[in-house]
Amino acid sequence: MTIKALVFDAYGTLYDVQSVAAATEAAFPGHGEYITQVWRLKQLEYTWLRSLMGRYEDFRVVTRDSLRYALDTVGLPAEATVIDGMVEAYNTLSLYPEAEQALRQLEGNQLAILSNGSPGMLAALTRNSGLDKVLQAVISVDAKKVYKPDPRAYSLVGDRLGVQPEEVVFVSSNGFDVAGARCFGFKVARIERVAPAALRGELIGGAAVGPAAMFRALRTQDEALGFAADAVAGSLLDLSGLIGSAIR
Ligand code: LAC
Repeated sequence: MTIKALVFDAYGTLYDVQSVAAATEAAFPGHGEYITQVWRLKQLEYTWLRSLMGRYEDFRVVTRDSLRYALDTVGLPAEATVIDGMVEAYNTLSLYPEAEQALRQLEGNQLAILSNGSPGMLAALTRNSGLDKVLQAVISVDAKKVYKPDPRAYSLVGDRLGVQPEEVVFVSSNGFDVAGARCFGFKVARIERVAPAALRGELIGGAAVGPAAMFRALRTQDEALGFAADAVAGSLLDLSGLIGSAIR
């Protein structure tokens, strides 16, 4: 079966969610790392909970509510203007340094994003980073009102690109997303941003395990769900070499 499309997760795969850390530290001095990590952990947790509850709200709302939760845990005032400003930071997240070059190497293939992000957030993000010129489609789960890893979310790729699951290489660094995409029937490349040995060293090295290390332990590793990726890459730049060899 030939590969007809490469579909990327956005947050954590092409865009570095940790790049809000400077903005959170500036807004909440001394609490930046803690807020950044609890915010992102809760944000995804709320996508899963809302999907299970059948109470979808778009990713902008989820991003706002999860930040409010994080601030409440440390008793920081959650003024609406400050919260809105922080949520705006999601529209200008940094691309991973290699992302643009990696996408250029893959030009000629159909390239798309499938993300939990709301259509408005994704439009702003891809426009601000210039990826709107490289991608053929930016697909938001909002069309189905359910979040990844629900199969209905992944089914949007076929609806929009007219391809079969096995003709798609889905690329993600988020473990739950890798498992969900593989379970759906896509071929999957997992981007391993934190090597297991490096993480282990960090966790047992003697230093206290802080929020960022805890985040890496919970969200950057291969999940034990029985749906491992077809290939694992340390960088998006490795993808072009995997297509046609490890992934065919
Ligand atoms: C996304 C989430 C998984 O971009 O980060 O869909």
